Amino acid sequence: MRISADGSDVLVVGGGVIGLVTAWRAAQRGLGVTLVDPEPGGGAARVAAGMLAAVTELHYGEQMLLGLNLASAARYPEFVAELEEASGRRTGFRACGTLSVALDSDDRAHLRDLHALQQRSGLDSEWLSGRECRRLEPMLAPGVRGGLRVDGDHQVDPRRLASALVTACERAGVSFRRSWAERLRVTHGRATGVALRDGSELPADQVVLAGGSLSGRLAGIPEAVLPPVRPVKGQVLRLTVPAAYAPFLSRTVRAVVRGSHVYLVPRADGELVVGATTEELGWDTTVTAGGVYELLRDAHELVPGITELPLTETRAGLRPASPDNAPLLGPTALPGLQLATGHHRNGVLLTPVTGEVMAHALTTGELPEVARPFAPSRFTPAPRPLPPTAAEASPRPGTTPVQQEQSL
Ligand code: GLY
Repeated sequence: MRISADGSDVLVVGGGVIGLVTAWRAAQRGLGVTLVDPEPGGGAARVAAGMLAAVTELHYGEQMLLGLNLASAARYPEFVAELEEASGRRTGFRACGTLSVALDSDDRAHLRDLHALQQRSGLDSEWLSGRECRRLEPMLAPGVRGGLRVDGDHQVDPRRLASALVTACERAGVSFRRSWAERLRVTHGRATGVALRDGSELPADQVVLAGGSLSGRLAGIPEAVLPPVRPVKGQVLRLTVPAAYAPFLSRTVRAVVRGSHVYLVPRADGELVVGATTEELGWDTTVTAGGVYELLRDAHELVPGITELPLTETRAGLRPASPDNAPLLGPTALPGLQLATGHHRNGVLLTPVTGEVMAHALTTGELPEVARPFAPSRFTPAPRPLPPTAAEASPRPGTTPVQQEQSL
């Protein structure tokens, strides 16, 4: 149903990779799309390392999310080929695999647990001795006690990915409005667009909130459909591997060191990304001496040669976390309002499947099968039944209290 005569079919609020892929895929389906963001291509993707780590970042209790992560990982090669063709830009996708290693017996026990969980989940990963790990990656510390080789966990460069998506959107006819969305317009119980900070209004048939950790901050969102996302800070370092040192690492190397995750993601162009802290500090994006110290200390334990490399950038970003660490996708209880947010640690990985899911949801009003568990309604409390009246509480003729109990 078309509501606004002068507006867009779809208004996407947020120009990170999730908003961009939603806009691109929706425009490809023939919808008229406007994207609102003061700096499209920015957001958490400017900081993220770009690991596509469906298997190595598997966590207990996240098996449902695993299915979506694997579905998106499987789409990546075809997705980047299409995107690179559509935009004329490279994404830095590398099918390089990942090695997760252990430095002491606690780490090794943790990794053995992860291996068992991966195997129970039917995933491909191979246990290697320390020597076998070093044969694959000679720069690893001599103390590495063992590791998991996961050849299916690849990487992409999120900054290049975002730039390619901006160009693909432009070429597909997405209109960009470089401004802050300030308030959701709700008319007669339906989302009908947004008001911008400059005072202008953008009407639309459907609005998609894809503002990452800021998604819940837009004024005017009714309480009942407010996305429960919160910011989780991650500090990330960028170093450069001089040509004389290459190849420094041939694949992503990661570990849990004293309970903290550290990963080293080597790009084809010589950039080496080291991440990431996990900090519940609200909207703080300060890069701290402690954060940089911990990352370098842990990375140095894994790969001692890292201290020789130029440190070129330090940054902090905010992961948009939801209560179950999984995204919120598709229609909300407010007609005209859809969500594409809450991707937490997996925004870059989930970009291809999110684009498909959101294009489907925007054109049909329904979530496709793969995304049904991620409907925003899973966080909407079911209406509480009213207490029974006295008449309802007394047994009806022909029923017994036991039957009533069974029928609850
Ligand atoms: N997926 C990596 C991170 O969130 O740090």
